[in-house]
Amino acid sequence: MLYPAELHALDAKYISQEPWFILSLVFVSVLDFTLKVLMPYPRRVIQDLGCVLDIQDLSKAFGQRRALTKLTLKLLPGEVYGLLGPNGAGKTTTINLLSGLLRPDSGQVLIAGQSASKTTKTYLGVMPQQNLLYQSLTCGENLAFFAKIYGVSSSLRSQRIQTCLKAVNLQDRAQSVVGALSGGMQRRLSMAVAMVHQPKLVVLDEPTTGLDIEARYEVWELIRQLKQQGVTVLLTTHLLDEAERLCDRIGFLKQGQLLAQGNLPELRMRIPAQEVVTLQTTDEAAAITRANSHGFTMRRYAGQLAFWIPQRLELKELLDKFDGIPIDSIARSPVTLEHIYLEMTRQHQ
Ligand SMILES: Nc1ncnc2c1ncn2[C@@H]1O[C@H](COP(=O)(O)OP(=O)(O)O)[C@@H](O)[C@H]1O
Ligand SMILES: [Mg+2]
Repeated sequence: MLYPAELHALDAKYISQEPWFILSLVFVSVLDFTLKVLMPYPRRVIQDLGCVLDIQDLSKAFGQRRALTKLTLKLLPGEVYGLLGPNGAGKTTTINLLSGLLRPDSGQVLIAGQSASKTTKTYLGVMPQQNLLYQSLTCGENLAFFAKIYGVSSSLRSQRIQTCLKAVNLQDRAQSVVGALSGGMQRRLSMAVAMVHQPKLVVLDEPTTGLDIEARYEVWELIRQLKQQGVTVLLTTHLLDEAERLCDRIGFLKQGQLLAQGNLPELRMRIPAQEVVTLQTTDEAAAITRANSHGFTMRRYAGQLAFWIPQRLELKELLDKFDGIPIDSIARSPVTLEHIYLEMTRQHQ
């Protein structure tokens, strides 16, 4: 790369005599300038190019009710992103907007850099909150129907159906009528439908809600398998432990607003504590006064008295801090997603 000082040092007479050389100098200078401008932002530029899903300032209202307000989030290739929020937070609305079932009031959704189109339809697989399965058709027939809709060629179709049934552990149910399957099996079939055309981005709306614990484990395993195959996953849930176990990054959605997002270590930094100590005592007032004197922040979790402890303490050191106070029980816990979630929602009440 040529720098200005070197350019000035070039022979002016030679430059004026050779137009091709002037042109090449102009080219080098433009290239040099462009690189200098772009260099401070390589991460941003690379991320923008590789974004699987890019939601920008997305808003949607139903009449007077705002379901989503300026939601912005990006999914990077291969990650599992969990959109976590209570009922009515706007999770399904988000999914309906990105799958084109709803039109946004403002903002935009880009899937692999493109707005909703035929191409993005094949890029995306959606498992809706309510299973969209034909109850009177068999598992195989349901998959064949959706494979056709999503453009899987007839020569590939039966192979894809077998692969997907196997992936969701329903290989012996190809001929079973959907209406005769358990809730967990129907959920897994719904997941197979979302995968049948081998999409790069799979969106799962509350994949485990209403399932018993064993069926839930099976769905979790399927999500892990998708990740291993390099598929990017957006899942919604209201289950904190589900998000904590499965997701690389988590966003907290409440009343249509994204309150915070990040990976677990990033989210943990939102609470300035090494651990959370829950106390049972017959003299809460004395415990709170003492905790205040040590600089421990007080909280109540499910009605129980708790304190944020800013530094790691041995159990004996911890007990010494409450010396003289009648303690019935003391429990220590690292900062969990539940603590962070409660804190974020508390700050936005
Ligand atoms: N079709 C609709 N018509 C009117 N209101 C709706 C409709 N869909 C969703 N809402 C409202 O939008 C808000 C967000 O709903 P939703 O996205 O389903 O939440 P979540 O999936 O997080 O439970 C709720 O207040 C809900 O009542
Ligand atoms: Mg929902």
